Amino acid sequence: MTQLITSTSQLRTECDAARARGQVVGLVPTMGFLHDGHRSLMRIARSECDFVVVTIFVNPMQFGPNEDLDRYPRDLDGDVAACVAERVDFVFAPSVGEMYPRGPSATVVHVDGLTDRLCGASRPGHFDGVTTVVAKLFAIAGPCRAYFGRKDAQQLAVVARMAADLDVPVVVVGCPIVRERDGLALSSRNAYLSPEHRAIAPTLQRALGEAETAFESGQRDANQLVAIVREAISGHPAIDLDYVECVDAESLEPMEAIDRPVLVALAARIGATRLIDNVVLTPTP
Ligand code: PAJ
Repeated sequence: MTQLITSTSQLRTECDAARARGQVVGLVPTMGFLHDGHRSLMRIARSECDFVVVTIFVNPMQFGPNEDLDRYPRDLDGDVAACVAERVDFVFAPSVGEMYPRGPSATVVHVDGLTDRLCGASRPGHFDGVTTVVAKLFAIAGPCRAYFGRKDAQQLAVVARMAADLDVPVVVVGCPIVRERDGLALSSRNAYLSPEHRAIAPTLQRALGEAETAFESGQRDANQLVAIVREAISGHPAIDLDYVECVDAESLEPMEAIDRPVLVALAARIGATRLIDNVVLTPTP
């Protein structure tokens, strides 16, 4: 049976009790408005862990002053129903006051280097908010396996680095991107798209697909791959490309000649909606 809890101390007690029974705890952090991307994380957690916790918290600390915190979509009833369907043990949905009882966190977890490029460049402070709240969730849940989507590839790399650097006893697990039939990566923010914008949104994935095709035909020049993506998107004036970059899939360092796995990542605004997508290309030796 799935239980909804809102208190950090209860989450800690339940996770401690599960481990005391010899169970492996699986943690799936989310901001709610759950879709099949989130549900795939729950399914992977369910298949690998004995005790699964989904957290639902729209974390104010990771939103910039002009971002969509106030209008971020929410549906706790629908979310709980999704968690029940995925046989989640606990849904942890704390209030802002429960997570930040002393007001805004004076302690900020900052991962250097990996956070200044890509989304970090256009969303200053965003990843500090992510790593701070995720560090808190890891501290409350205790030793566990924690599931993150590769859709947010930079977030995954930053969280994995934070856990490694701080010797946090959490195994960070990356999970595949779940897409709509037309290729658009599932995102809670897709709900903002007008029908016209929804119709052109799959262009982002198609553009990455063109880079992938060129890569498979032997293209190993990162600048060329970036140019292919830009060209594919340039025909759509409604898409305002924020960045497209080729970086080392782990360190997120910029790459020129592709001799190891490369993350081709992009962010774009369609109308007022900011979407991200990526593909990882691995050269065969
Ligand atoms: P949120 O955007 O709700 O995403 C929660 C998790 O679901 C993240 O790990 C994200 O990568 C994953 N996810 C979202 N869409 C996906 C898709 N189409 N395919 C696969 N996985 C997908 O990311 C956050 O929340 C927050 O920053 C959080 C980590 C919870 C910290 O506040």
